[in-house]
Parts: sequence; C-alpha cells; structure tokens
Amino acid sequence: MTQEPKRINHLGIAVKSLEEGLAVWRDGLGLKVEKLVEMPEKGLKIAFLPCGETMIELLAPLGEQSEIQAFLDKRGGGLHHVCLEVTDVGAATAHASAQGFALLGKEPTMGAEGYPVRFAHPKSTAGTLVEWLEKA
Ligand code: CO
Repeated sequence: MTQEPKRINHLGIAVKSLEEGLAVWRDGLGLKVEKLVEMPEKGLKIAFLPCGETMIELLAPLGEQSEIQAFLDKRGGGLHHVCLEVTDVGAATAHASAQGFALLGKEPTMGAEGYPVRFAHPKSTAGTLVEWLEKA
C-alpha cells in the first residue's frame, strides 16, 4: 500500500556553522529557535526553528568527523534533505524500495527529532536526499 506523506516535517539545511545559519534564519528571516541538539556520534550540531507546521533544521558540523562535511565541501551549504512525515516508515520505505529507491542503512534509526527515520540516496531520487519520519 502506498503511504501518502502527511506533510513536510522539516527541511534540513546544511550550514558551515550555526552562527552563520542563525544569522540568516533567526536574525534575518525572523524564525525562532525552539531547541539546539548535539549529536556527537554523527558530528552534528542542530538548531530547530519552527515555521508553521514545518521545521527548519540547521545542520552544522561538530568536530572532525561530520556526516555533512562532504556535502559542505562540495556545495558550500544549502538544502540538504527534505523530510516527509508518514504514519509507518517501514511501509513507506518498503514501497519506495519497490520503486527502485536506494535506501540508506538496513532499518530506520532514531532521528534528532526523536522519531524513527530512514533516508533514500539522492542518486535514486533525482538529486534530493529524501527522509521519512514516522509520527503516528
Ligand atoms: Co532530517
């Protein structure tokens, strides 16, 4: 069964530093910071800024081994991924996999937002890293 996404849960935006990102999204564009989270195991510092029902997530590198360093080196920052909210991440990704999407990892993991997530590689999605987030 197709899992129709409910909404865009968040947009992940890579920045060289949170300072640089907050100068744009908080100070310049007027969004409010809801929380800051550090994920040392992924080398990420994340700022969450709600905009209506959708979250802007600023992703900045933390330490030497950051998940987003290669993206920053290649692109210099910007839109990193689009996160679709679904009620069943297993069903949504099984459907996507059957359509030929290249899923990352073997199963959903716990995302920075505190919900199960899984990603599809941009090479299989016409260039955009897609994330599914399960929220019942
Ligand atoms: Co995300």
